[in-house]
Amino acid sequence: MLENMPPMWFVKMQKECPSVPEGIPYVRHLGEFNPNIVRVFVDKYGAKGMVFWEPFAGHLGLNHTIEICATHGVRLIACDIASCDERVIRANSISTRPSEPIDGMIFHPPYYGSAPMSNVEGEISLDYDNYFGNLEMVADNADMIMKVGSHVCSVGRTLTVEGDKYRLDWIFAKLFIDRGYEVVDVFGSMPDCVVILEKKR
Ligand SMILES: C[S@@+](CC[C@H](N)C(=O)[O-])C[C@H]1O[C@@H](n2cnc3c(N)ncnc32)[C@H](O)[C@@H]1O
Repeated sequence: MLENMPPMWFVKMQKECPSVPEGIPYVRHLGEFNPNIVRVFVDKYGAKGMVFWEPFAGHLGLNHTIEICATHGVRLIACDIASCDERVIRANSISTRPSEPIDGMIFHPPYYGSAPMSNVEGEISLDYDNYFGNLEMVADNADMIMKVGSHVCSVGRTLTVEGDKYRLDWIFAKLFIDRGYEVVDVFGSMPDCVVILEKKR
């Protein structure tokens, strides 16, 4: 897994990064992230009239990202394979994507090794043999519709699965770096790490 360890420049950025404040309650151990991550992202990279995509918008309760984006005039296309929020489109983000150009993406897939998030066919957390390949397909999907200059807000953390360490923050970031994106910002929201990437070409 050595190739999945982050380089020094990334580790240095992480050491010096600011933390996202806590706010709206969320259920971290069931896969939710701190909604203020989205607030910080949209504050900095969102603008009225923009369209964002959230391919893994949550399966538990109400999605907060839609409202946070809306307060900035950003329209969010929220998708999840097992959503229980009727504003979220039920879709498999491995094989489908929005049909319009996108100015930003919030990328928070199930974490490798986490308990199944649903039993719906296509659910990433049901098939860890194909986990990394499936994420490559989502990144390909995103890259087809992301505008040059648009931003990805990627949220991951370090996990140990069956004795092996996985730096998901870096592994997720690398999906986009390999497609021509650059890391422009890093935030902490313990135990998650938020990486902002900009599409350069
Ligand atoms: C880590 S959770 C996202 C949680 C969300 N950020 C929140 O705070 O509520 C990952 C989500 O990915 C969804 N998911 C898994 N496989 C998917 C797929 N193929 N297409 C779309 N959504 C999927 C799961 O249902 C789950 O809600």
